Formats: sequence, structure tokens, C-alpha cells
Amino acid sequence: MVRMLGYSSRDELLQIDIPTELYFSPEQRQQHSELMKDSGHLRNFEATLRRKDGSAIHVLINAFGLHDALGNLLQIRGLMLDVTGLRTSQSELHRERDFSGKILSNTQSLILVADTAGLISYANRRWFDAGFDQRELLGRPLLELAAPGFVRPLADALQSTLNSQQVDNLELQIVRSNGSAGKFSANLSPMRDEQGIVTSIVLVLTDITDSAVLRDKLVHTEKMAAVGQLVSGVAHEVNNPLTAILGFADLLMENPDLPETARKDMRVILQEAQRTKQIVQNLLSFARQMPAQRSFVQLNSILRRTIQLRSYDFNSHGVDIVEHLDEELPEVMGDAHQLQQVFLNILNNAYDAVHEIGRSARIEIMSTKSGDTVEVSFRDNGNGISHPDKIFDPFFTTKEIGKGTGLGLSICYGILKEHGGEILSHNNAGGPGATFIVRLPATPHTASFGVAAGVIQP
Ligand SMILES: Nc1ncnc2c1ncn2[C@@H]1O[C@H](COP(=O)(O)OP(=O)(O)O)[C@@H](O)[C@H]1O
Ligand SMILES: [Mg+2]
Repeated sequence: MVRMLGYSSRDELLQIDIPTELYFSPEQRQQHSELMKDSGHLRNFEATLRRKDGSAIHVLINAFGLHDALGNLLQIRGLMLDVTGLRTSQSELHRERDFSGKILSNTQSLILVADTAGLISYANRRWFDAGFDQRELLGRPLLELAAPGFVRPLADALQSTLNSQQVDNLELQIVRSNGSAGKFSANLSPMRDEQGIVTSIVLVLTDITDSAVLRDKLVHTEKMAAVGQLVSGVAHEVNNPLTAILGFADLLMENPDLPETARKDMRVILQEAQRTKQIVQNLLSFARQMPAQRSFVQLNSILRRTIQLRSYDFNSHGVDIVEHLDEELPEVMGDAHQLQQVFLNILNNAYDAVHEIGRSARIEIMSTKSGDTVEVSFRDNGNGISHPDKIFDPFFTTKEIGKGTGLGLSICYGILKEHGGEILSHNNAGGPGATFIVRLPATPHTASFGVAAGVIQP
């Protein structure tokens, strides 16, 4: 005990004032004495004492009193155990556990631990934030989380990890608890015991859905730019001879010496040349590099004009057009002609999609404001989009030759991009058909109403 407390001799220790010099707090000493008095012994009493050099020592005291025949306390005998090392490592352990716990629950990554059978044994808090619940995850096979098509790659990665290999940046799609799939980058690491045997697998997932969407958009933009340049060159080359063909064909038609049979053939030549011109016109507008003319436009009125253009066809083919136009729709900054071209393209596609489906055909057009954006959606009840990843590619068409050029949506895409907007599409969730959504930035300018409100405001 003398050594434990850092004194050089027994005598030196016996001379100190115990309550103030040996104990850090006199209260503890008080408690110690009272316990001793009441029960006659101390069992595993924890105390913090002061060494001669002033440092703290954590001890466990076990002691009992020796009494004389009259019950007076004669002596206290006991053992004092130095537990300073134990206490320090315990609190270090606590701190470490606290630290890793905080990292695990505050990281942006989704972390899972699976056992060697591939069953999930731990999930960090992010999973629960992402809408999964404990019951859904723990004890479930890890492979069940992967979207179809990603089960195999994940199974292979698990196998390599079990064979002690680290797997990095594996692209995975995980089915979220609401059923939608998100893109993730996964890292799998083996966890080994002291003998180096893999006992479990740690899977760290980073959500890259947004960056994957961005990357796809970038690739598409680049593709459009490259195709645009090519098309523009070809279209200009074709345009000149075509103008000559049309011009001379027109002249010939006006020639009274032309026999009737030749005139009939001539008419076909003219018609086909006209059609080619239309296509070249489309190509040129797809490849158009000039910026849009800008003015304040009201999308509702452009929409009404566009619907009007096609209403005869729609009526005569029994296609129902339902309009839900928001009368409070703010104006947008844009080129009315180009925007009309966008709406016409989408409307024509919807018409092609609902035409001849064998049920009553319907196209719903809705305009709304959502936040700082004006949205126009076209919802049809056709057969839906068969190749959602390709439809905005130039020249992609599922229509028969002569009917589709595959340029409509690429043109829409280009026009909207120039307007600072975008075009989105999806197949309808609660029924057949597809929906196309055009989004454009709303201008804060809301005609006289906005100005008046501005004046009234303090
Ligand atoms: N409303 C729609 N429903 C289903 N598929 C559509 C719809 N709109 C477009 N598509 C698909 O997108 C393709 C490309 O459209 P688009 O670029 O306008 O070219 P095109 O109309 O000449 O085929 C169409 O061929 C079709 O497969
Ligand atoms: Mg089209």
C-alpha cells in the first residue's frame, strides 16, 4: 500500500492527514467511515485516492473492523486493490464505442454488416432514415435488397469478399422500401477474427442516384451536340438541290405541253419532294444553333392554339382532349413558336399512341405552377413508352418507315434546354399510357397584379 500510493516508507504514510491528503473528497472519507461504523465492513468500496505525487488512483477497498469485547473499534484490516488501469481502459472502451457509434449513425453512407451466410446482422441508422425498418433488414438475406439484374453481381462480390478480397465501387441498384430503385456505389470489405478467418462482411453504400442522372444527362447533351453538327451539315447540303428539284418540278407542272400521264408522275415527284423538304426542315430545326427569341409568353394560350390546330383530327378520330389549365399560371420567358412546336410534337406523339388502341382514347393536358417552375403535362392512355431510355435520342423511332423520323422529342429536348427548362417522361403508374412533362422557369413578372402588390407592400 505504501508503494501503491507512492510513499517511501510506512512512517511517511502514517504521518499524513488522511481525510484531506489521501482522499480527494472528504465526503467520500465520511461515507467510508459511516459505512464502516454501520456494517462493520466495506465490500468492494470504490474510492479515488491521491498518491504522494498528487495523481489519482482508483481503488477497490475490502475491509473489516476488529472490535474488543465491549464492541469498541480497535483496528481496521483490509485490502486495497489498484483498479486505475482497468478504469482507464473501460472508459477508453466507452469513448471508442461512443465514437464509432456516432460515426456509424451520422455518416451519409448506408452501412450493413452481413454474416458469412449473407444474412444481415447490422444496419446503421441511415437505413432507417431511408425508410427501411429494423424488421425488414435484420436477419434478411442481403441479396434480396438488390434490384433484379443486380443480384448476380452482388452475389459474386459477396463471394469474393468471403474469399478475403475487398470489392470497391460496385454499381448496384437497391430497391428502396417504397419500391423505387436507387443507384448506389458499394464497397464490400471482409472482417476477420484474430486467426484471419473472415467472420462477416461490411457493406458501405453511397447513394449516387442523383449523380447517375446527371451523368446520363451530360452524355445525352454531348450526343445531341455531336449529332446536331452532323445533321446540320447534311441538311444544308440536301436543302439546296431539293429547292432546285421543287422549283423545276413546279415549272414543269405549269407547262401546258406536258402530257397527262407525265403530269400524274410529276405530281408524285412533287409530293415526295415536299415531304423530303419537311424532313429537312425538321432536321434543320433540330440542329438549329441560334438562340430562341425571348418574350413573356402565356403557356395556356400557346397550348390552346396548339390543341386548336389538331382538334379536327382528334374529333374525327374520337380522341378526347381534357384540359386542366391553371388560370393563374405565371408567364414564362420564351419563344412562342418554338414552344408551340414542342407542344405539337408531344401532342402528335400522344395522338399516335392513343390512336387505334381499341379503347376510348384520351389525352389530358394540365398546366400548373410548382415552386419556381411552370409545368405542363400531357397524359395519354396509349400503350406506354417501350424504350424510355432511348426516346430522346435523335432518330429513335418505333413508328413505321415514313411515319416517324425520331426527331420530334430530340427537337423538344433541344428547345427546352435553350429555354432553361426540361422535358421528362414516365409511364403512368395507375393505368395504361405515358405522361410527358415540360418544365420551364416561371418569371416573377406577373403582369399588373404583381406590380400592384409590390406597391402595396410596406
Ligand atoms: N405518348 C407516347 N407514348 C408512347 N411512346 C411514345 C410517346 N411519345 C413518344 N413515344 C416514343 O418515343 C419515340 C420517339 O418519339 P419522337 O422523337 O417524337 O419521334 P417519332 O414520333 O418520329 O417516332 C416514338 O417513336 C415512340 O416510341
Ligand atoms: Mg414524334
